[in-house]
Amino acid sequence: MQGSTTTRVTVEECLSMQDGSTVELRGWVANKSDIGSLAFILLRDGSNYIQLVGKKGTSSDDVMRVMKDVSIESAVVVRGTLRSDARALNGKELLVRDIEVIARAEEPWPINKSTVRSASFLYDNRHLSIRGMKSSSIMRIRSELIKAAFDFFYERGFTFITAPSIVSAAVEGGATLFEFDYFGKRVYLTQSAQFYEEAAICSFGRVFTMQPAFRAEKSKTPKHLTEFVMIEAEVAFNTQEDNMRLQEEFLTYVCNRVAEKRRREFDTLGRKIRPVERPFPRVRYDEVRDTAMKHGIEFEWGEDIPTEAERLVSRMFSQPFFITDYPLSARSFYHMCRDDDPRITLSADLIAPEGFGEIATGGQRIHDYNTLLERIRSSNLPLESFRWYLDLRRYGMPPHAGFGIGVERVLRWLCNLKHIRATSLFPRTITRAYP
Ligand code: 4AD
Ligand code: MG
Repeated sequence: MQGSTTTRVTVEECLSMQDGSTVELRGWVANKSDIGSLAFILLRDGSNYIQLVGKKGTSSDDVMRVMKDVSIESAVVVRGTLRSDARALNGKELLVRDIEVIARAEEPWPINKSTVRSASFLYDNRHLSIRGMKSSSIMRIRSELIKAAFDFFYERGFTFITAPSIVSAAVEGGATLFEFDYFGKRVYLTQSAQFYEEAAICSFGRVFTMQPAFRAEKSKTPKHLTEFVMIEAEVAFNTQEDNMRLQEEFLTYVCNRVAEKRRREFDTLGRKIRPVERPFPRVRYDEVRDTAMKHGIEFEWGEDIPTEAERLVSRMFSQPFFITDYPLSARSFYHMCRDDDPRITLSADLIAPEGFGEIATGGQRIHDYNTLLERIRSSNLPLESFRWYLDLRRYGMPPHAGFGIGVERVLRWLCNLKHIRATSLFPRTITRAYP
């Protein structure tokens, strides 16, 4: 139990220690079995997994009894000696000298082969099922992606800001707003931090955010959450051309970093990922429409690209690509249009390949007061709510551009997941607000 040479380490740390080292580990019983004179526990501590071994004759009777009796998912402290064993997961095992059950789990563990009959059961029990190897691998990849995103922006002189979640106007149109009463006034949950970033660039030049965004998406799809995390960036003096280059650099940096650092997790998921390469191909909205029509998917020029058409084109690529030149009628009011064709915006969607579809939208914003005022009026939007946004254009607003990219959309593609809910620790969809 005692022994001044017993060091408390994580499983990950002990995997690179020498045979014969005595260590203390703390974790959970992920699995267990016993055959005759041997007892095995697969210990999980959040950093990795290691096999614990009790051997009659070598380990005490007490140790053998505890190892055989302990229930799945109990929390334990264990001390023993490390040794290599090619048959063990990760090639090492711990010969147990001493084990203590710190928190015994009730039996049976609710997540087992006879109870798990549907994905919805796993999501009803998400507070427990997140301990699994697959979901924890996805979450570790998510954590790395978020760190990479912060590093990317900090290395480039961006300032991190946060924007309110309670807002008085829609950024992306009224259809997907969650509305609620705020001391007698009608307010909404934010769809995007973009307008606040636009105010902030005149103070900081280049800013980014990473925070929840909310959409009351009416449709049940494998790519929509009602609450998700959006990373947004906005840069003063950037054109849409600069903005697309920034997105290319961002996605390349983040994806390649995550692929390198989280190789083990991608292996667990059985996902082979290719390096992301710049520059990304570009396809115009008109070309997407022509391709869709050739495959029997019809939509009017000016409408948003239907999901089936987006999926079709996305399957034709093995690298992320941009769809450019969206008609204004398919975009929000703040988009700037081309000088040579006022029906077409200076905006693009960034599309993940293999059928995954849109992961980001970005564009250049109107910076001229009168143009924006006219656009708000012609879109029949309440001028009152946009007064401060318009006001920014009275006091030195330069051309500027930015984008928003969905953390869960990127993860769904990187991890090759059927449904976006698997990318969120506690997903929120139209049918789920529990646990
Ligand atoms: O395309 P969206 O609506 O663009 C904006 O909100 C802009 N104001 C962003 C900006 O320019 N600063 O949303 C941006 C991204 C989408 O491309 C998608 O990745 C993600 O946010 N997203 C969703 N992710 C999951 N579930 C949903 N319901 C999503 N809606 C958007
Ligand atoms: Mg979009």
